[in-house]
Amino acid sequence: MTQSQTISPAPTAREREAVLEVRGLDVDYGHGPDAVRAVSGADLVLHRGEVLGLAGESGSGKSTLAYALTRLLRAPGVITGGEVLFHSRPQGSDAGPPETVDLLAADAATLRRIRWSELAVVFQSAMHALNPVARIDAQLTDVLKAHRRSMTPAQRRERAVELLRMVGISADRLRSYPHELSGGMRQRVMIAMTLALEPQVVIMDEPTTALDVVTQREILEELMQLRERLGFAVVFITHDLSLLLELADSIAVMYAGRIVERASAAELFRAPRHPYSLGLKGSFPSLHGERVRMEGIPGSPPSLRSMPSGCAFHPRCAFAMDRCAEEQPLLVTPSLELPDGRAGTAGGPPSDRSSACWLQDGRQPVPAALALPFPPLPATATVATPEPPATPEPNRSAAGIAPVPLPAPAPIGAAPTKSAPTNAAPTNAAPTDSAPVDSAPVDSAPAGATSGATAATPPLGSSS
Ligand SMILES: Nc1ncnc2c1ncn2[C@@H]1O[C@H](COP(=O)(O)OP(=O)(O)OP(=O)(O)O)[C@@H](O)[C@H]1O
Ligand code: SF4
Ligand SMILES: [Mg+2]
Repeated sequence: MTQSQTISPAPTAREREAVLEVRGLDVDYGHGPDAVRAVSGADLVLHRGEVLGLAGESGSGKSTLAYALTRLLRAPGVITGGEVLFHSRPQGSDAGPPETVDLLAADAATLRRIRWSELAVVFQSAMHALNPVARIDAQLTDVLKAHRRSMTPAQRRERAVELLRMVGISADRLRSYPHELSGGMRQRVMIAMTLALEPQVVIMDEPTTALDVVTQREILEELMQLRERLGFAVVFITHDLSLLLELADSIAVMYAGRIVERASAAELFRAPRHPYSLGLKGSFPSLHGERVRMEGIPGSPPSLRSMPSGCAFHPRCAFAMDRCAEEQPLLVTPSLELPDGRAGTAGGPPSDRSSACWLQDGRQPVPAALALPFPPLPATATVATPEPPATPEPNRSAAGIAPVPLPAPAPIGAAPTKSAPTNAAPTNAAPTDSAPVDSAPVDSAPAGATSGATAATPPLGSSS
């Protein structure tokens, strides 16, 4: 989440236990020759208590992925491949292995049992999902009536009051109708309903996008405090990468239905390995460092009906090589993260740090902006330059990219220091063999202090 948390002690075995695993998930809209693929080969692992951010432009397939993995996809959506495993460990069952449920194969009764009480969803525009003709108390107690049959009416009402208080709404609002509440309050009620049964996993699809930034921040702060207290894991979907950099533990970036990069929030912020992530990061201003020109990403995402060949991002990518238009890169561990400088095994499950980009396969030098070391090198370190394997020089003239040497991996646990301003667009400035790395400290600022809306306030989830 925040910088201080990224350098906190290593997670325990329980925290590293997967609670949700998505493997090779394919989702189409339509059948036969008219079908279009909206999600392709999605791989995700959500760990217990973790916030996993899912970022990407509109239409990249984020909601489709969320609907598919919860089996809530409506026609013409069809799951055509992959598996989704939910490792359930209900409250009070800490001993022994978790119960694993294959959600794509589960029958209706199993799904009914799991949904809401163990795996809950806050849908995009959820505040419009409240029943307009029922009071808030009726809507909250209905959930408890359906799933907690042993509760008495008095206990249900008490729990409804507790839930509203939990999301910062006073009990006198229980008798209100949804139209008597503000948008922010309705969204809070939806979050309260989602948490009513203390699920292990909460999927939140743009839960605060329709709200002003102050209300958004308040709700997210409350949400992160609830997560600390209740220990649920979150898949948080948004197109706002700056929000995720502050909120999430790890982030998956989607483009045109594929996950193109997976990394911890700190890794993605300090050292993105995919040109699309770099472009997203360069699309919002930094309050720190030098003033740099905002570059954004040229062009727009492709239509599902006419996907570009090879890497779907190649028409917009400043680093595109000839190969990019012909071959689809797979999500693998970037060569920079491996001691021998070769890309991770294609086809196997990706590691937590993965990128789907030919630049990261170890066969050519990586542009400087995509080769920043993580953790950043100590102030006194110099960048070593191992020889890259001999390969033909890629055609990068369109981008004007000069080849740069691969930086030596920094020792794990090295004191974090700034390596270079990272919001700039791809740079031609190659570090030289002997030049010391820029040592301007950045750790005084929280990792997420990047947007005007959030930089002046404490990190999300910190107790006030
Ligand atoms: N019912 C549908 N029929 C056909 N195509 C669909 C349907 N729903 C979504 N799509 C297409 O699937 C793709 C992914 O849509 P999805 O809603 O998952 O994107 P998203 O990343 O959630 O976008 P946003 O950020 O705008 O919510 C889009 O190209 C969209 O047009
Ligand atoms: S594979 Fe090629 S086109 Fe795709 S992101 Fe990497 S460099 Fe750009
Ligand atoms: Mg969506």
